Amino acid sequence: MKLEEEIAQHLSDLKKGSSLRVLKTQSDSSDFVDLSTNDYLGIAQNEPIRETFYSNAQHLALTASASRLLGGNHVEYDHIERFLAQLYHKSALFFNSGYHLNLGVLPSLSRKNDLILADKLIHASLIEALKLSPAKNIRYRHQDYAQLEQILEQQSSTYDRVFIVSESLFSMEGDWVDLERLVQIKEKYNAILYLDEAHAVGAYGPQGLGLAVQLNLLNKVDLLVGTMGKALASVGAFLICSETIKSYLVNTCRSLIYTTALPPINVAWSLMVLEQMVAFEQERIELAQKSSYLKQQLQKSRYNVVGDSHILSIVIGDNQACIEISRKCEKNHIKVQVVRPPTVPEGTSRIRLSVHQNISYYELDRIAEIFVSS
Ligand SMILES: Cc1ncc(COP(=O)(O)O)c(C=O)c1O
Repeated sequence: MKLEEEIAQHLSDLKKGSSLRVLKTQSDSSDFVDLSTNDYLGIAQNEPIRETFYSNAQHLALTASASRLLGGNHVEYDHIERFLAQLYHKSALFFNSGYHLNLGVLPSLSRKNDLILADKLIHASLIEALKLSPAKNIRYRHQDYAQLEQILEQQSSTYDRVFIVSESLFSMEGDWVDLERLVQIKEKYNAILYLDEAHAVGAYGPQGLGLAVQLNLLNKVDLLVGTMGKALASVGAFLICSETIKSYLVNTCRSLIYTTALPPINVAWSLMVLEQMVAFEQERIELAQKSSYLKQQLQKSRYNVVGDSHILSIVIGDNQACIEISRKCEKNHIKVQVVRPPTVPEGTSRIRLSVHQNISYYELDRIAEIFVSS
C-alpha cells in the first residue's frame, strides 16, 4: 500500500473511533471559564504582572540567535539559573521545554549496563527518553511500589546503576506519588531518583517549589524537573541537580546543546513570574480548597472522578460520550479538555479538568452540575 493511502486509512479509522485529533484555533474566550489549560494560578491571565513586564521589556532580545553553547547563552539564563539555585539550594540547568529536558537527560546520564525503572503512566517525553537511552528499562504498574521493589530485589544487582523515574503529580490522573516510600526504596537499593514535578511546581509546596520541598525530601531527589509552561505561565524547564551533573549535561545532553536557546525575552518573563509566584501562598491555599470542593461536587455525578489535586479527571471510557459532554460544556461557556488514547490507556478516555485558582465557587458549581446532569 502506498504511504499516502496507508495514512489516509489510518486517519479514517481514527475518525470512526472518535479519536481523530485536529488543531483547533483558540478564539478569544474571555467569556469562557477555562479548565483546559495548565494555568493553575491564573498568571497567564494576570494583566498587572504582564503590564509590568512589558513596560520594562523593550531591551530584551526576541531571539537567542544560537544554542546556549554557541553564543545563545544570554545573561537572562545566568539570572534564572542563579535564582533557581538559590530557591532549591542546588544547581539548576535551564532547558527550552520540559519535553527537551526529559528527552535528553536520561539518555545522557545512563549507560548500557544500567536499568531504568519507570512508572507506567509517566509523560510521553520520558517515554521517549527510555527509547533513546542505551539502558534497559522496565515499567512498573502505576504507583505499585511492591512491584517496583520486587523488580529491584530480583534484578538490581546485575546492573551497574538503577534509575527510578516518576512524576510527583501525575498529569492525567491528578494523583500524588508516595515520595516517602519511593525515597525509602531508592535508599535501600542505592538507586538514582528522577522526579518530574511539572504539574506541582508553582501550584504546590512552600514557595510553590513542589512536593519534594513540601516533604523535606529535596536532598534525596537526585534529579528534579520543573517546567515553566504550566503554573508558571511561560515556556522552558529546569533541572535541579548537583553541579557535577549540570557540567556533564552541558557537555553531553543533545537536547540542550543542539537547539537554538529560548529568546531572552521569554527567559526574563520566566524569571519575573518565578520571583512573584514564590509569594503566592494564599493563591495556592485557595487552589487546593477549590480543587477539593470541585471534586466533592463532581462525586455527586455517576462518573468515576480521579485526582487528589488541582488536576481532576472524569473517566468516562467512551470517546464519543466524552466529546458530547465537552460540547455541552462549550455551550455553557466552559472550556474542558477531552483526553483519549494513546495519551491515556485504552478504555479510559476522560475529561481532564485543570482547576484554576481564579475560578469562582459559583462557576465550580456550574461545572459540576453539567456532569451531575449528564
Ligand atoms: C509530567 C510532564 N512532564 C513534562 C512535560 C513537558 O513539559 P513542556 O510542556 O514544558 O514541554 C509535560 C507536559 O505536558 C508533563 O505533563
